[in-house]
Amino acid sequence: MCCLMKIKGVILAGGLGTRLHPLTKVTNKHLLPVYHKPMIFYPIETLVDAGIKDIMVVTGGNNAGDFLRLLGNGKAFGLRHLHYAYQEGEGGIAEALSLAEDFADEDPVCVVLGDNLIEDSIRPYVEAFRKQGRGAKILLKEVSDPQRFGVAELNGDRVVRIFEKPKSPPSPFAVTGFYMYDSRVFEIIRGLEPSQRGELEITDVNNRFIEWNEMTYDILKGWWTDAGTIESLHRAANLVSEKVSRPRTAQVGC
Ligand code: DAU
Repeated sequence: MCCLMKIKGVILAGGLGTRLHPLTKVTNKHLLPVYHKPMIFYPIETLVDAGIKDIMVVTGGNNAGDFLRLLGNGKAFGLRHLHYAYQEGEGGIAEALSLAEDFADEDPVCVVLGDNLIEDSIRPYVEAFRKQGRGAKILLKEVSDPQRFGVAELNGDRVVRIFEKPKSPPSPFAVTGFYMYDSRVFEIIRGLEPSQRGELEITDVNNRFIEWNEMTYDILKGWWTDAGTIESLHRAANLVSEKVSRPRTAQVGC
């Protein structure tokens, strides 16, 4: 039965994008171009490619209306409908996710941060989570600058704990912005306290599933990047440009 489990997609595209000022003074970070497409196209394509067609975009700030003008009902992605929610302020990734509770309606969710881009399909990981049936799954990637991210401490095939932007990272494995949760995630978020930076942290959510011994992880093979700083936005554009200019056959199985 678990293989028929319905998974809904949630893309988090709120926040103020202050690390990209002045680019984000008059628009939302996720509407900025990454090579030949607006940033928000990539997470939508990632979910659709993984077979997830029931999608909510959570956005915020002064330019939320532009998402509707750009994306409409998602026809360009083969969707019949797109759901939207509005986050007031910048209360954190977990707060943005909490706005999708009614949309999720007890179904598990695959959450994608709106500024995360990935080379390969996440379909195999989504299928693995379907088989897992409950709990949570995160996707890790070995990076040279783990202190910029949530970082996983690992013990064999177990995640021991995740540290948010640690000064001394316990491993080189960054927690990427692709998360899969069962519906208890919303209960966890309700119990969170804001962190020192005043946000409800997705790392606290992940650590709760770890404490429950219900967190699995996979390590990404292809490239992954965020696009939330000038350097990473530039890097994302370069990676996409290389990918689109590569012959199609070379993309298979890498
Ligand atoms: O990119 C992966 C990293 O993303 C993880 O390794 C970290 O554990 C996680 O905390 C996050 O770190 P950042 O500091 O880079 O997240 P940032 O504040 O840039 O937010 C990432 C996306 O989340 C952003 O593009 C939109 C969404 N977001 C963020 C905030 C703070 C919201 O929708 N609402 C928010 O209030």
